[in-house]
Amino acid sequence: MTAGLKAIVLVGGFGTRLRPITYHTPKHLIPIAGKPVLYHCFDALPKAVTEINLACGYMVEEHSRYIREHPYRIPVKVITEEKPLLTGGAMLNASEGVSGEFVLMNGDVICGLDGDEMLEYHRRKKAYGTMFLVEQQDVTTYGVAGMDAEDRIEEFVEKPAPEDAPSHWINAGMSVWNADVINAVPAGTPISFEREIMPKLLTKPVYGFKSKTWWEDVGTPERVLHAQRLIFDNLPQKQRETHVHLPGAKAAMPVCVGGGCSAEGSRIGPYVTLGNGVKIGKGSIIEDSIIMDGAEIGEDSIVVRSIVGDKTIIPNRSRIEGKCIAREPERY
Ligand code: GDD
Ligand code: MG
Repeated sequence: MTAGLKAIVLVGGFGTRLRPITYHTPKHLIPIAGKPVLYHCFDALPKAVTEINLACGYMVEEHSRYIREHPYRIPVKVITEEKPLLTGGAMLNASEGVSGEFVLMNGDVICGLDGDEMLEYHRRKKAYGTMFLVEQQDVTTYGVAGMDAEDRIEEFVEKPAPEDAPSHWINAGMSVWNADVINAVPAGTPISFEREIMPKLLTKPVYGFKSKTWWEDVGTPERVLHAQRLIFDNLPQKQRETHVHLPGAKAAMPVCVGGGCSAEGSRIGPYVTLGNGVKIGKGSIIEDSIIMDGAEIGEDSIVVRSIVGDKTIIPNRSRIEGKCIAREPERY
């Protein structure tokens, strides 16, 4: 059973709430602590997964190039859609080679889940499906599960009004399924897994795997920066210390620095990711931010709680607070 388990990971949507960053970089490839969101997401998959089918709905070339140049520890096959098929259609479109059971994952969530524990739970329960759930106060932007005393899911409502939410347990974006679920999806048409397929599967034994682990969906700038805090706070101490090489700069940990950066006379951190080839001018202060590949921050500037896109130039004496900034878009 263990050999050949596949995961289908969904990357699509336009990342509109992360514009202008997403004009150039898909949200799944925003770097946090040395690797993109997508690879943090892969890290939560059960170890039994031997191959990932990446259901790729947009910026296919960017995803493919990254994966080619930075191979993940297991093979990742990019499967494209001609038009956005939504989560259910994308799952079907990327289901080649799936049999027995498989893992379905949203490519925009980061978490401390041990996927093996969830897979073990799924098998112990002899479940048809098992969904990773976390608790949230405001559930209105998520899918929400209502369960019985054994955690069998009886109801599932996507993005409910507060009065219609069956609980505070939300779909955290990873689930394990019997491969039969693929047959429930009509071919070639856009269809939402959460709105149209999931509710129909509940006649079968589908369980919630309730978890207290750290978790975030990187859909907005605030959530990306929160995800960065969570990731840094949960890195093993040793890994935190090996990520900084910034001669002449003051680094307040945690900080992660890519190759070929310069930041002499500046103060970096805490909670900062610098991509590759980033230049920070003398006297500048960077805190709680992500500065992507090839960006340049001038001298005597302050960047706080912000995301600066790749190759973006910030002039001297700028004050950037709570912003997403990118160079002019060449597309859209
Ligand atoms: N390939 C492909 N094609 N992927 C898509 C498409 C598409 O047409 N539409 C969305 N996706 C991908 C997104 O890139 C993301 O990785 C995942 O599917 C979920 O889509 P989002 O647009 O991010 O949905 P959401 O965050 O509003 O809601 C989903 O995630 C929540 C948890 O973060 C739902 O699954 C909710 O039920 C869940 O609570
Ligand atoms: Mg999302």
